[in-house]
Amino acid sequence: MKNDMITVDELQGMLRLDTANTTYVMEISNGLYLGHLYYGARLPSGDLSFRSAFNTPMSEETRKKEFVIYMDGMDFEYPGWGMGDSREGAIKVKDAGGVTRTNLLYRGYRISMSKALVPGLPATFGDAPGEGEVPTLEVDLEDPDTGLFVTLFYSAFWEEDVIARRVEVKNKGSQDLVLERVLSAAMDMPAKDRQGRDFELLTYCGTWAREFTRDVRPIGLGKTGVSSIIGKTNNRMQPFLGLMSPGTTQETGEIYGWNFLYSGNFASFVEKNSFGGIRVSVGIHPEEFSWTLEPGQVFYSPEVVMTYSDSGLGQMSRNFHDLYRNHLIRGAWKDRKRPILINNWEATYFDFDTDKLLAIAKTAKECGIEMLVMDDGWFGKRNDPDSSLGDWWVNEEKLQGGLTRLGSELEAMGMKFGIWFEPEMVSPDSELYRAHPDWAIAVPGREPSRSRNQLVLDVSREDVRDYIFTSMCKVLHSAKIAYVKWDMNRHLTDVYSALLPSERQGEMMHRYVLGVYDLQERLLKEFPELLLENCSSGGARFDPGMLYFSPQIWTSDDTDAYERIRIQEGAAALYPLSSLGAHVSICPNHVTGRNVPFMTRGHVALAGTFGYELDITQLSDEEKGMIRQQTALFHKFNDLVRNGDYYRMASFQETGFYDCYGVVSRDKSEMLLTFIHVMNQPCKPNRWICISGLDPEKKYRVEEVGMEKEESPDADGKAPVVCETYGAMLQNAGLIVPCRYGDFQSVLYHITEVREDS
Ligand code: DGJ
Repeated sequence: MKNDMITVDELQGMLRLDTANTTYVMEISNGLYLGHLYYGARLPSGDLSFRSAFNTPMSEETRKKEFVIYMDGMDFEYPGWGMGDSREGAIKVKDAGGVTRTNLLYRGYRISMSKALVPGLPATFGDAPGEGEVPTLEVDLEDPDTGLFVTLFYSAFWEEDVIARRVEVKNKGSQDLVLERVLSAAMDMPAKDRQGRDFELLTYCGTWAREFTRDVRPIGLGKTGVSSIIGKTNNRMQPFLGLMSPGTTQETGEIYGWNFLYSGNFASFVEKNSFGGIRVSVGIHPEEFSWTLEPGQVFYSPEVVMTYSDSGLGQMSRNFHDLYRNHLIRGAWKDRKRPILINNWEATYFDFDTDKLLAIAKTAKECGIEMLVMDDGWFGKRNDPDSSLGDWWVNEEKLQGGLTRLGSELEAMGMKFGIWFEPEMVSPDSELYRAHPDWAIAVPGREPSRSRNQLVLDVSREDVRDYIFTSMCKVLHSAKIAYVKWDMNRHLTDVYSALLPSERQGEMMHRYVLGVYDLQERLLKEFPELLLENCSSGGARFDPGMLYFSPQIWTSDDTDAYERIRIQEGAAALYPLSSLGAHVSICPNHVTGRNVPFMTRGHVALAGTFGYELDITQLSDEEKGMIRQQTALFHKFNDLVRNGDYYRMASFQETGFYDCYGVVSRDKSEMLLTFIHVMNQPCKPNRWICISGLDPEKKYRVEEVGMEKEESPDADGKAPVVCETYGAMLQNAGLIVPCRYGDFQSVLYHITEVREDS
């Protein structure tokens, strides 16, 4: 933290934020308009006015003559609407007369050393929400014709090289204003990197079981980007946008990243114009959005976090990881090792009872697993996906003795207990739906679309939220429950809220998200020790907004370790390993039918929260022995995996044959390196890997750990030492990894500092 992270040069009209390695500068032109001047590598202090965002000063004179022409080529900080700029604006507001012209003029600024909470929304913080120093710049803009008052917020995170942005919009006029779009951030910047090469667009896209697929595309003229309009963030597109130099690697190249702290409809896009510029825009998707702001009311946009690195993708990932671990994830589990869980979904699906669960738990306990998570199917009359969502009471036919018996027998065994809910849903075949059909989202008089034979509850309504909260609390108070998996398995369709007047239906999608946040907040207040894991058909709600409520999110229903190598690579490009739900499951894998060795499945899951999702009672003694080894590896390395710096050294997607990543401690005294021979290649005995992230000056011992057979360690029971050498050697000369026979063979290396005095 530095006191001079925000500086203002009133004479030159410059507003500037600095982080350890980046600088962000805005410019006020003639006291009228706010322009964007620079974001990139850290600059020395000094005048930047020679590089004005405005190719002609914005004066009243220019306005009268050539304003419209100039608008189009200028770099705006937060562009309005209908003033002659042919690019899309960040805000569009309709006044009582139906006029949408939105003309934002600069009005002033404030600096504070703290960062306020954002009502109803997740947001980054200093030490805890509302606590700790985070230098924040507020810039006021106003449309004098309507009384629309916009405050732009910029909070600088020094060590993480991150700037968090958001917007507050206040109606200071005397008539209702309708917000038709309020993006959280916009930024006009050059379309080329420092070497004059066109930036490319980096996004992470996919679908169910194929989340987080890296997509790189050239940016042509016009608009391109990612979005969601299904009411949740989506597995099709992450709410992330990156601009990077062509050929950017883990360690080289310029990269800008924007990530949106929101779990609903979003639009993150770039627009390239004819004058060599790009406008980046991030916010709530303007489609399906409008918000009536009465005089005196305020609208709060969700937050966007952005970072810049000129040393490659890896640094961007580490910046985001640190931000999320230190300044977004909160609560009892923020810094704690999570219990190793076993989830019964892939073991039993809907076909289970108390005895079956206890049998799984007993064997799991013997193998070092610490918590049983009872997934879908424990409530109402639910024996398939067609009924009972909303009826959150125990099915005693299935669970003889209810949760009390299951909970107390697990406790007697020394196992923790977790449980699944899908709180936002209702099955048409349920007591809840029969009692309150109007609580499901549907357009009056039209048959709503079903998905998995279920409907979505209108959680924008307080009465609906109260019902969900009360029924969940009843269950959670009825036994000692340590963990909840909060699932959400369909898109929002037929969007309409019975409690909103027709002219306010455009508020529904955002109110829905606020409703979800409110419910999760209430739950965490009621059960402060609860470990919450969000989930949505796998990774369809993996976004930074959700990390504010749950320190971990289920990454994908695809538990095939081969697929997970790629999925987790994509997820780890943005999110810390401590947040990636990852389990070992049975082979042939239920999604892909593929076979991957048991030990490799464990090694891949160790780069996440770690757990199991299989019928452990059916495993061989050899496999159970491997679980014992894997759970021991978890305990040995999880502190490092959760807290360390992530370095990716090879991507299977690029090499075609192998994959390699490591996590190094902050003091660079220790690293866990995972190398996976994904595909065997004949006549290619060894692989060569250069290890980044270590201290070149330090001497290290490299040991192989996590072998498949218990007899693999040498005669003393110690792991075989591969070499002892300096970090510079491992980084430049590299390590030779002997090839293994067969596909999907993995090896873990524990690299530890050798102190000269030891
Ligand atoms: C989707 C989740 O992603 C799965 O893990 C499982 O919980 C099912 N829902 C249960 O219906």
